[in-house]
Parts: sequence; C-alpha cells; structure tokens
Amino acid sequence: MAKTDKEKLGINTRLAHTGNDPHAFFGFVNPPVVHASTVLFPNADTLARRAQKYTYGTRGTPTTDALGIAIDSLEGSAGTIMVPSGLAAVTIPLLAFLSSGDHVLIVDSVYHPTRNFADTMLKRLGVEVEYYDPLVGAGIKALLKPNTRVVFTESPGSNTFEMQDIPAIAKAAKAAGAVVMMDNTWATPLYFRPLDHGVDISIHASTKYPAGHSDVLLGTVSANEACWPKLHETFISMGCCAGPDDVYQVLRGLRTMGLRLEHHQKSALEIARWLEQQPGVAQVLHPALESHPGHALWKRDFSGSSGIFSIALDGGGQEQAHAFLDALQIFGLGYSWGGYESLAVPVFLGDRVVAKGPYPGPVLRLQIGLEDVTDIKADLERGLAAARAA
Ligand SMILES: Cc1ncc(COP(=O)(O)O)c(C=O)c1O
Repeated sequence: MAKTDKEKLGINTRLAHTGNDPHAFFGFVNPPVVHASTVLFPNADTLARRAQKYTYGTRGTPTTDALGIAIDSLEGSAGTIMVPSGLAAVTIPLLAFLSSGDHVLIVDSVYHPTRNFADTMLKRLGVEVEYYDPLVGAGIKALLKPNTRVVFTESPGSNTFEMQDIPAIAKAAKAAGAVVMMDNTWATPLYFRPLDHGVDISIHASTKYPAGHSDVLLGTVSANEACWPKLHETFISMGCCAGPDDVYQVLRGLRTMGLRLEHHQKSALEIARWLEQQPGVAQVLHPALESHPGHALWKRDFSGSSGIFSIALDGGGQEQAHAFLDALQIFGLGYSWGGYESLAVPVFLGDRVVAKGPYPGPVLRLQIGLEDVTDIKADLERGLAAARAA
C-alpha cells in the first residue's frame, strides 16, 4: 500500500500494522529483536565507504527502524531517535539545539526533572534559563530575545495540567527563529500531533502509554525535516541509544495502545466527573472537564484525553494528604504513569515560579489504570474519608 493511503487508515489499523514488513523477514508477523554492536562488511572498500544500510549497533538496527517508522507515521515526523528514558528524550534535544550564550524559555509547569536539568547542566554550560507562565499564549512574543534559541512546551503541564496555546506559541517562536519543542507524553500522538501545530520537535516518555506495563524505560524524539539532521547528529555523537529489547517492547505496546488509551480515557473522565461531586474535593484538574480553565484549548486542539489528572483537597496540608494516600488499597503510591495500574502521588509545587496556585489544600496526582471503575471509586472514597477524618 502507498504511504499516503496508509495514512488514511483508522488509528487502530495503523497501530496494528505500522513499523513492520513481515515479508522482509520470512513472513514473521513481528520484526526480529536485533542485539548488535558489530556489523560485518563484505570487503575493505565497503567498510572504508561504510556503504551499507547498517554499520554499527549505535547507529540503528532493523528493530530501531521498525519503531522509528511507526513513530514517524504517528507523529508525521522526518525522523525519530530512541533513547534509554523519557528524561533522555528531553535532555538530548535541548543539548542538540542550545549553546553557551543562548536563552531558553521553558514552561513553568514542566516535568520536574526537565527543570532540574535546565537549572543544573544547562546553566553550567552557559545557557540562560527562563520559566514562563503556561497560560502566556501569543504573549510569549514579549519574552523572546534575540538569543532565544529554544521554546520548550508541555501541554497539559505536569501535575497541574494547564493547557498551553501551542499554535500561538509556535507561531511567535518560529517568527523569532527559535526551535519549538514539546513534551507530548500526556496526549501521545493519538490525541495530539505537535508537528501539525507548528512544533519542530515532539518528545515522548514511551515509558508511559506506549510501553503501558510499568516495566520498560524508553524515550522517543521526533523532528521535522528542518531539525532532523541536527537532532540525529547529536544522538550519534552522544552514543545514547536505547537497548533492543526495550525498543521491541515499546513497538509491541503500540499494537494495543489505542485500546488501552480509550479505556484510560473513559475511566479517568468518569472518575474525574464523579470526584467533582465528592465532599472534600475542591478542584479536579483535568482539561477534558468543562470546568477546567483550559478546556476550550483542549477541545480545539486535542482529539482525546488520557488517564492522568490531579485533585486539590478543600483544605488541610500534609497530614490530610498522607491520610488520603495511606488509606488507598488499589492505588499504588509510586512515580510514573501510563501503565495498567492505578497510582497516586502527592504534588510538590515549591519549585514553581508562576504556576503554583494557590490551591485550597494539598494537590494529589492520580493515574487511572485499567481496573474496574467501581473498585477505583471505592478506593478513592476510602482516601477522601480518611483525609476528612485527619
Ligand atoms: C511529562 C513527562 N515527561 C518525561 C518523563 C520522563 O520519563 P522517564 O520516566 O521515562 O524518564 C516523565 C516521567 O514521569 C513525564 O511525566
């Protein structure tokens, strides 16, 4: 089938078939997991010119090609690199496009380890780091300087789920010659395709929904035509390639990601709406809820929502937050999300410059897993009752 015809297929059809050509490998439905450092060349001349498709394990294998093709087709990108974690998928493009003396604008509701990298390593390398309000929209224009080289976005934001006006930000940033990056882990390319909205580089912690089972760490970075050569060159220079088994597990995860996401979406929305009615809950921070201040932007740009959001209790502090968390029996207390199981963590906003509330009580982040909604609600009722009693 021609590439353009393939792109017209429904999303679950594409997830089932993209990134593998069974007849290129004896008809096996799945591609081989190639474990490789050395690749042999047939003679000295081919070796001297490196004139063959695969030359060394760090530079790509049939396994990384399979996932790369699949992600490019989902993202609409010119190329995708695979790195050992979602955090590496953030740090490598920042290192690729920033040099000493450059200015970077980073959204204040960014994933905390991204901020930590910027505040430590980027600053040490002589990059000027500035955080901006997630609600800035076209107003980002006023913050752009002649040396602004990168505008980093994440929408919705980590933990507090503010929506950014990505097209407006991308337009202003591009006009000023800056590269626009987006951590798009929350939506996955199924519910938002950053490159279609003016973003240059789309970043994913594939650890989350693509892997889906809390047992794999992987990151992907996908670039448009203009940014791909530099991204790829940095990836090769750094030798920061992902292991073949992890790459394979993420390709395997993609096959069911559409179905899993639909379930996460449906359960999370039902629970979020229910939580809005529960005593002790002051706010539910989920952009697909009509009550969310960023709902109109979400509705305009996104085609779905995933399974992670936060709640703010209507008073109290750490004691109430701990009582809530300790009463949970189904939710695990632990970091990450996108797996099959429900998780809860307290949210820390002490490092924020702008997007720090105020919230009336502690903020708790909930990842809604694939368990039955009735059981999840009963667990949350236990948590809320314990918080009220604390
Ligand atoms: C928005 C976001 N980006 C990136 C990451 C990093 O992913 P990883 O855990 O694979 O390093 C996370 C992890 O929680 C995340 O929430």
